[in-house]
Amino acid sequence: MTILVTGATGLVGREVVGQLLKAGHDVRALTRRPVAAGLPEGVTVVEGDLERPESLRAALRGVERMYLFPVPHAVSDVVAMAKRAGVRRVVVLSGAEADNDMFGSGYRIVERAVEESGLEWTHLRPGEFAGNWLDWAQRVRTERVVRRPYGGAVTQPTHEADVAAVAATVLAEDGHAGMTYTFAGPEALTVAEQVKAIGVAIGQEIRFEEQDPTQARDGWIQDGYPAEVVDVLFGMWAESARGPAPVDEERAAVVQRLTGRPGRTFARWAADHAADFEQPIP
Ligand SMILES: NC(=O)c1ccc[n+]([C@@H]2O[C@H](COP(=O)([O-])OP(=O)(O)OC[C@H]3O[C@@H](n4cnc5c(N)ncnc54)[C@H](OP(=O)(O)O)[C@@H]3O)[C@@H](O)[C@H]2O)c1
Repeated sequence: MTILVTGATGLVGREVVGQLLKAGHDVRALTRRPVAAGLPEGVTVVEGDLERPESLRAALRGVERMYLFPVPHAVSDVVAMAKRAGVRRVVVLSGAEADNDMFGSGYRIVERAVEESGLEWTHLRPGEFAGNWLDWAQRVRTERVVRRPYGGAVTQPTHEADVAAVAATVLAEDGHAGMTYTFAGPEALTVAEQVKAIGVAIGQEIRFEEQDPTQARDGWIQDGYPAEVVDVLFGMWAESARGPAPVDEERAAVVQRLTGRPGRTFARWAADHAADFEQPIP
């Protein structure tokens, strides 16, 4: 049985490839740029673009199961082609915000296209990725500082290896058809606590500077974020910074239930990614 992993060069997809290979599956990996893929031995790398369904013909040949990275454009044609090629099961990388009108419409387009295809489907809706901190890695490497508003905002970061482990489980195991799994990491931490944990992982202190939200808002908009998105996001952070947010045990338990072990902590994520943050200041 061949499993096609799309988004295979991504933070999660790369882990999905690795975990499926380790479990002995026949894995095919999709990328738009095979030369730059850097995927492990043992995986067949194929070129294709999810925005150009006709480019997927070779990638889909003989595939029975598929991990679908969410690219809304042309997704109905992509799943129709997959069905014609003989794919029977699709596991969708969606997001916990899928039902949020501001952030989730792309996820819902992909989920709906797969539901309407008549293929067997499972939707994965992970919460915020710990990997989002990689956007701050350069600043940490060069200045050892993170400047953000709402240092007290709480999130429940999810390690990409856990998203991948959930995906690998539902790709391989029966019994998950028609299920939507919303899940998250095992602990609720403030933004400032997450910065501290990255500092511990690299053995260096990282300064957290709390920005004034009004100034930060202008900066984010200048960086290209739409004002209405920034407002919703900042509103969510302001709300969560107001009081102690308990861990969403239900979401954390999904990882344990599906993978047989608790989700990885943020400290573990930071240790796994220490190299991304630790280049010394020259
Ligand atoms: N960040 C969060 O907090 C969060 C939370 C929940 C869900 N999510 C979802 O997770 C996604 C990110 O996953 P990730 O971190 O594993 O990915 P990533 O590291 O952002 O990498 C993007 C991947 O998508 C592939 N890709 C993009 N456009 C493509 C196209 N048109 N055709 C084929 N492949 C395409 C890229 O492949 P090539 O460049 O090799 O072609 C690459 O493998 C987000 O886009 C979001 O949908 C994110």
